[in-house]
Amino acid sequence: MAKFIPVGIFDLVIFGGAGDLTLRKLMPALYHRDLDGQLPAGCRIISVGRRPVSHDEFLDLVGGSLRAKLPESEYSEEFWQSFSERLHYIKADALDPANWDDLSDVLERHEDRIRVFYLATAPKLFGAIATGLKQNNLINEEVRIVLEKPVGNDYASACEINDRVGECFAEDSIYRIDHYLGKETVQNLLALRFANSLFEPIWNRSNIDHVQITVAEDLGVGGRVEFYDQIGTLRDMVQNHMMQLLCLTAMEPPTNRDHDAVRNEKIKVLHALKPIGAGEVKRHTVRAQYQAGAIDGTVVDGYLDELGGKESNTETFVALKLHIDNWRWANVPFFLRSGKRLKQKYSEIVIQFKEVPFSIFPELCDTRNANRLSIRLQPDEGVKLGLMLKDPGPGSFSLRPVSLDLSFADASGVRYPDAYERLLIEVIRGNPALFMHRDEVEFAWRWIDGIIAGWEESAQPVEDYVAGTWGPTASSLLLDRDDRSWFPD
Ligand code: BG6
Repeated sequence: MAKFIPVGIFDLVIFGGAGDLTLRKLMPALYHRDLDGQLPAGCRIISVGRRPVSHDEFLDLVGGSLRAKLPESEYSEEFWQSFSERLHYIKADALDPANWDDLSDVLERHEDRIRVFYLATAPKLFGAIATGLKQNNLINEEVRIVLEKPVGNDYASACEINDRVGECFAEDSIYRIDHYLGKETVQNLLALRFANSLFEPIWNRSNIDHVQITVAEDLGVGGRVEFYDQIGTLRDMVQNHMMQLLCLTAMEPPTNRDHDAVRNEKIKVLHALKPIGAGEVKRHTVRAQYQAGAIDGTVVDGYLDELGGKESNTETFVALKLHIDNWRWANVPFFLRSGKRLKQKYSEIVIQFKEVPFSIFPELCDTRNANRLSIRLQPDEGVKLGLMLKDPGPGSFSLRPVSLDLSFADASGVRYPDAYERLLIEVIRGNPALFMHRDEVEFAWRWIDGIIAGWEESAQPVEDYVAGTWGPTASSLLLDRDDRSWFPD
């Protein structure tokens, strides 16, 4: 079992400190790390927000959301009392210069502590907050600034944010979060590839037929519909989470685990992505929107109904066929799909190896269920290796596909920490390995911008799919055309 090593004493300042991300993700993550004894006495969590709430009201808000979110076995009233002593609330509008004094007063008493500024706000505020921190002399020797995704909504806006924040903070103190990098299975992908000699020699175009990456959600856009309508799935999920999964799957072995070594390999993958422009979008991409349907027997609205009947071309589903132009991956298609209101919450990376070159078993006509490595992110994190074996028993010699199934939770017997728990601890420790360098963000945007421009130029239609399915027919056809199919289908 991994050991919990306490971090150094810190002040964590969260902008957007009474917002949805703070209540839903950051506070539970900090509570857990504190429960495991990782936060030293005296560390402070200072929420800065525009909500006009008193200190007690703020504690009620956080306490209420922790009680609602954590299972009974993980919440105790006694521990909450001690955790709540770390919490402070400052009502302030980061854009109003008059509002910085309270924060300065609170911080100046502890000049030499690790100081983390977590920007859980809209990205358009990142530049202004960074400037405010600098102008108010709040940047000390031990500072880190955390930028929540998305960093911008295209290449130009990402560069502008990176430039503005970069004027105030050194690149190695900027932590751009993609919470998928904190997921246990994503970490395990590195272990699987580079701590075993089994896979790396066959991890290439000679042995791999294709790769699939699915990140499916059963939830719809819900309360975020107005925001989501400006964004869509390509920007919300593909530019960041799916690009990171792709990079970790496809990158060359780094020379060590240092952040620069890993990030450099990821950047090379992004460099090698073949552009998909107006001429290619039709054959290589599918975009679609969910209609009313049923998930697990519950009837759900369509996207346009949630949008109040407005017209919209925003996609809630994307499927892509892409290529990485380098020696390892030449001509190996990578199929990516992500969507809301699909059949179930399910994320998996599937490596489909090639079939045997010659079969001595006449009945071995379809081995596609075998020769497959599945790396499951959620639910039930784990790795599954599909193989063909002989059906046991005397008599005829028949084959059947079987799976070597390794569920990580069963294998390790520990609670799976939320991605934010690991990421927050890594920020405090000052280890940027699990965060994105500005180049990663910008290269990913440049490639995504090409697809968006291609959709606009070619007026590619937005398909429909019924909520509770695996997406539109066009998504299946994307693979059918290559005589392949999605898992699951
Ligand atoms: C976020 C997206 O980054 O990731 C959301 O903005 C999405 O739209 C979420 O629902 C999915 O994260 P997870 O960890 O639940 O797969």
